[in-house]
Amino acid sequence: MLESAVGSVKGKRVLILGAGGAAKAIAFYLASAGALVKIANRTIERAAEIASKLENASYTGLDNLERHIADADILVNATSVGMYPKIEETLVTAEMMHSDLVVFDIVYNPVETRLLREAKKAGVKRRIDGVKMLVFQGAASFKIWTGISPPLDVMESAVRKALQSANSKAKSEAKSEAKSKESALER
Ligand SMILES: NC(=O)c1ccc[n+]([C@@H]2O[C@H](COP(=O)([O-])OP(=O)(O)OC[C@H]3O[C@@H](n4cnc5c(N)ncnc54)[C@H](OP(=O)(O)O)[C@@H]3O)[C@@H](O)[C@H]2O)c1
Repeated sequence: MLESAVGSVKGKRVLILGAGGAAKAIAFYLASAGALVKIANRTIERAAEIASKLENASYTGLDNLERHIADADILVNATSVGMYPKIEETLVTAEMMHSDLVVFDIVYNPVETRLLREAKKAGVKRRIDGVKMLVFQGAASFKIWTGISPPLDVMESAVRKALQSANSKAKSEAKSEAKSKESALER
């Protein structure tokens, strides 16, 4: 999926943030495709465990992320940081990125995460949101269960539409909650 967006990952230096289920799957896939993987995680032992099972992989904690990003071609956020409802959270800000980086955030709700907004601010052109990965996963399961390859573009546009409407609903609920808190304070 990542390769369909950026070409071959062979020899590319990939920094993966996170060491949960999704990070593990991504790390195994990328390492098997010849990428040089570095896993950075808050709980460093989990990063070490994944790296120990891979060829050409290393690990680190979340300190000095800026230095690790400077050495990377691709940054993947595979943590849940930035996911709804804590949508203003990010482990990486614009000053920590370089414009040649590819930034892939697997979080899909919201579609444009704070990390992707920071990447835009840093001049990063190749920014990938989590929707494609979600769709590819769904399509793979559908094929396993039914033997039918579903139309990816139809699935992707349905997912984007559903997420957009959920986001607008959440935003308007947050606004009216803030308003009612304000008027309660005035009383
Ligand atoms: N696009 C897709 O198709 C797709 C597919 C799967 C998952 N996802 C998304 O990917 C994210 C991770 O999923 P998962 O299943 O791998 O979850 P998980 O197994 O629970 O792992 C969560 C990861 O996030 C880290 N983390 C959580 N809060 C943090 C914080 N405040 N600061 C730093 N690190 C933090 C955890 O670090 P510790 O180890 O230190 O706790 C862990 O590495 C979720 O947002 C999920 O929605 C997307």
